[in-house]
Amino acid sequence: MTAHHNQGPVSDPNHPKTAGKLPNEVKARQIPTGFDETGRVAPRLRAMINVARYHGVELDPNEFRAAQPGSIPTAADLSQWAHNGGMWSRAVRVRWSHLLRLEQNGPVVLLFSDGRAGLLTGASAERNLVFLKSVDAPDGAEAIAIDELRLSRVWSGEAVLLRPQRSSVAADAPFTLGWLVDLVRLESKPLRDIGIASFTLSILTILPPLIVMTVVNKVLQYNSISTLALLSAVIVVVFAYETLLGHARRLIINVVGTRLDTKLNLHVFGRLLRLPLDYFERHPAGETLYHLAQVYRIREFLTGKLLSTFLDLITLCVLIPVMFYINATLAWMVLGCAVMIMLIIFAFLAPLRRRYQHVVDAETWKSAALGETVVGIKTVKALGLEPQRKALWDERVADAGKARLAFGQLANWPQTLVTPVERTMVLGTMLIGAYLAMNDKTGYMVGSLFAFMMIAQRVAQPLVGLAKLVEDYEEVGAAIGEAASVLNRPLESSSNSAGLRPKLVGEIQFSDLTFSYIGTKTPALDRVSFDIAAGSMFGIVGRSGSGKSTIARLLQGINRDYSGFLKLDGVDLKEINLRHLRQGLGVVLQDNFLFRGSIRDNIIAGRQGLTLSDAMRAAHLAGAAEFIERMPNGYDTYIEEGSPNLSGGQKQRLAIARALIHDPTILILDEATSALDPESEAVVSANLMRIASGRTMIIVSHRLASLTECDQILVVDQGKVLDVAPHSVLLERCGVYRQLWAQQNRHLEGRHGRLAAVPPGLM
Ligand SMILES: Nc1ncnc2c1ncn2[C@@H]1O[C@H](COP(=O)(O)OP(=O)(O)OP(=O)(O)O)[C@@H](O)[C@H]1O
Ligand SMILES: [Mg+2]
Repeated sequence: MTAHHNQGPVSDPNHPKTAGKLPNEVKARQIPTGFDETGRVAPRLRAMINVARYHGVELDPNEFRAAQPGSIPTAADLSQWAHNGGMWSRAVRVRWSHLLRLEQNGPVVLLFSDGRAGLLTGASAERNLVFLKSVDAPDGAEAIAIDELRLSRVWSGEAVLLRPQRSSVAADAPFTLGWLVDLVRLESKPLRDIGIASFTLSILTILPPLIVMTVVNKVLQYNSISTLALLSAVIVVVFAYETLLGHARRLIINVVGTRLDTKLNLHVFGRLLRLPLDYFERHPAGETLYHLAQVYRIREFLTGKLLSTFLDLITLCVLIPVMFYINATLAWMVLGCAVMIMLIIFAFLAPLRRRYQHVVDAETWKSAALGETVVGIKTVKALGLEPQRKALWDERVADAGKARLAFGQLANWPQTLVTPVERTMVLGTMLIGAYLAMNDKTGYMVGSLFAFMMIAQRVAQPLVGLAKLVEDYEEVGAAIGEAASVLNRPLESSSNSAGLRPKLVGEIQFSDLTFSYIGTKTPALDRVSFDIAAGSMFGIVGRSGSGKSTIARLLQGINRDYSGFLKLDGVDLKEINLRHLRQGLGVVLQDNFLFRGSIRDNIIAGRQGLTLSDAMRAAHLAGAAEFIERMPNGYDTYIEEGSPNLSGGQKQRLAIARALIHDPTILILDEATSALDPESEAVVSANLMRIASGRTMIIVSHRLASLTECDQILVVDQGKVLDVAPHSVLLERCGVYRQLWAQQNRHLEGRHGRLAAVPPGLM
């Protein structure tokens, strides 16, 4: 690399010396933020790793991200890092007196002012000392006792607390109603405020009826103006108070709702990303999206109906005693009606639940049809399948409509039956109350009746609401079930923190490995054994369906339920942390997805510390630089989702560049060059040797000509290994290989009149 190169952010990829020098250059210049200049893990990170290990969790320094790259890792960055690694962590400021009393299970990381860190392992309040351990102290080393003065020279109060994630609202907890309730309960403080406000509001609601009672009984009977004035003043104060409290309560509910929404969103997406690829292959996108959309109904229920009914219950607790105080006979009547309403609603629960399940099923099918059509629209248009898709859609819409109609008709009945009871509750009590008042000698009955009517209305509504809540819960229960059907599948790995993180070299060993896809009888791979040496170029050939892609999938850890062994550098692949494994792998498939954004963003794909010049080098290596530079905006050219403005070959070369940019130890090309035209394939092939330098490369290809350079070629057929050898050896001893080679080159022979593509000495 030239000196000029190191200064400017933009390099010249056409420069003869810079072309194709990606791997080592990138390695040397990119110091991820968690490392110091010498490439060692920074002391603060080492301290964190130490404590995490104490709790049985491995933190990966490669995953550390600083908010401001290049600076000393801050407490907040460290805590975020541990959090992403699946731990509970807090960045705190503590005083000496707190240190002495800090109750923490395990060591605490103290961040020193000079950028280093120490581990606080204990404290003695009587002796006014704390015990510190150096980050690099060997395991058995004694902690050093330090007093306040000495510590204050190096430490200004910053610390990071670390614990294993134990809360049931952890990322791995299954998605159930209990989990949701826990999530709500975490908001205990605002919920308590809401409760207090509601309780106060309920008490305030008693006042107006009581005031009316007094007005009717005292003011009207005895013409007492002074009492009226006093009551007016009380009413004004009560109303002002009520207004303010109501406002505050709605404000808090809004805040709590938004927070729950955010947490649910983050949790759901996090889990979705950790579902195994298998799941997505077996379920249409539309179905998944529909199921996940149900999560928002759940949130609405939690902060809407559930919360308001809960608050109404508080009101009931206050109002029912008052009701009995005013008139027990009428109170019993109200309660009797309420019980009847509840019975009606409960009677309809089970049939309603069944019909609602039909609605859910029909809606799921409908969404699946929609999703499939949108995703496959190119095929639909190309084959003119619109009428068929429309017919399918009509059918699904009709099914969903029928199911909804049936549900609605049944749901209408409890409503119909409840209405007269509800009316009786209000009007019946009034009539009976009037009757009682007529026979009443005290003269207070009229006022009481007024007051009672006002309260009864407030009681009836929450009681009915309570019964309806159960009905709603049925729907939400279904929604939870739907979301859970997606989210509660076994995740790819039990936790982000699980598994070893060995440094990858690239030696691969399949021994006696047998693997079948779920639901298939014949194994996709049958007692497969072969080795791939680190740093070698390894080709895989075989007929369609012979298991080539399956080998690549197993290497990526997509399917892990195989028998036999798959070892990477001697370590069982199942033991390796998945994220770590995939960071060391580069994979290019036949069909690659490009995200919306510029070409540069697509090549870098959000990976830290990479710049335009890295993207340019990777593009050059992948044979993409030339067409990118011809585009009007070069590397800033905007790609839409699904990349309509790129040809298949161009997309492919971008995907290769994207896989190359982070310098993977193992690069897998699964039919990656199949879509390329001969010219761009030649560009990539010419670079293959350079691409391959310093890494293990696995090339799956139908075109044998692109594999002739490989150190070893594996020939598979129907899941079995036929042979492993270099090209020339295979031509001599492997019949299937020879046949494939002859088939592909007969074509050439016909055109050129001789076997131009066959290397000399092979035929
Ligand atoms: N996700 C899957 N679920 C079930 N069976 C699968 C799945 N993927 C592949 N198979 C089956 O496993 C076998 C091997 O498939 P694989 O994709 O490995 O073949 P391949 O050699 O890559 O073929 P091609 O050259 O066509 O890409 C095939 O019989 C296929 O039907
Ligand atoms: Mg394949």
